[in-house]
Amino acid sequence: MANEVATAAASGSAATERFHQDKSPFDAVKDTPKERVDLLAREVLGAIHETIRKHKVTYDEYNALKAWLIQVGAAGEWPLFLDVWVEHVVEDVATAHRHGNKGSIEGPYYVPGAPELGADATIPMRDGESGTPLLWEGSVTSTDGTPLAATVELWHADNDGYYSQFAPGIPEWNLRGTFATGPDGKFRIRTIQPAPYQIPTDGPCGKLIAAAGWHAWRPAHLHVKVSAPGHELLTAQLYFPGDPHNDDDIASAVKPELILSPVAGDDGSAKVDYGFVLDPVQG
Ligand code: DHB
Ligand code: FE
Repeated sequence: MANEVATAAASGSAATERFHQDKSPFDAVKDTPKERVDLLAREVLGAIHETIRKHKVTYDEYNALKAWLIQVGAAGEWPLFLDVWVEHVVEDVATAHRHGNKGSIEGPYYVPGAPELGADATIPMRDGESGTPLLWEGSVTSTDGTPLAATVELWHADNDGYYSQFAPGIPEWNLRGTFATGPDGKFRIRTIQPAPYQIPTDGPCGKLIAAAGWHAWRPAHLHVKVSAPGHELLTAQLYFPGDPHNDDDIASAVKPELILSPVAGDDGSAKVDYGFVLDPVQG
């Protein structure tokens, strides 16, 4: 496996396959009135028409767009494309009402069912997993301060920026775990600090990035889903101070309140305190 390399097509098709394993996304919107579909579709198309008129888009450009869109589908990169350039606005809208943590995008690399490890545990990792060891302590509370018996699912890239199950040669649940807080809401997690992550550059999304003169970087981040009975699910990412891409994340998913404040231990490890506040479900 060691000589197998991660490719956009492989991680793209894995992300597409993963997305299709979830329950049908159409079920949740099956009662959407025609009027809303009509409104949204017309406004999106209208914005495209407006751009074409404003910038006098040519047939050559239109055909290149058509070819590129076909390639995005063929490479399985729709999850990548949407999660990088669209999801952050959906997330902002969805969590704007919250008094607790607002969250951040899920991205394409979440897998449910990671090993259950309790309140005080080390995430699955390889012998000698490279990267700065990270000890993370925190607690989960409701907006009124009540501690919550909660579930904290954590997943993140390794020190080379790769996710298990989406890059070859990494054990299935590497750097993926499900932690359960006690009734006091507390958890203590041992993992490693992930590296900054470059979205795959060898596929159609990479082609867009190169053609537009953008960069492909996301800052180093930890992904979490935090849930507790009677509370809204929190999907978030946590970032590290000083990362050059905190200010220009390709996925526009950094919020100041999600940047950790780790302190260096004597042994080269890092220690961080960060907890979560969940909003009760209304009504
Ligand atoms: C992508 C990858 C991520 O790790 C993430 O958090 C968001 C998006 C991506 O490759 O699309
Ligand atoms: Fe990620």
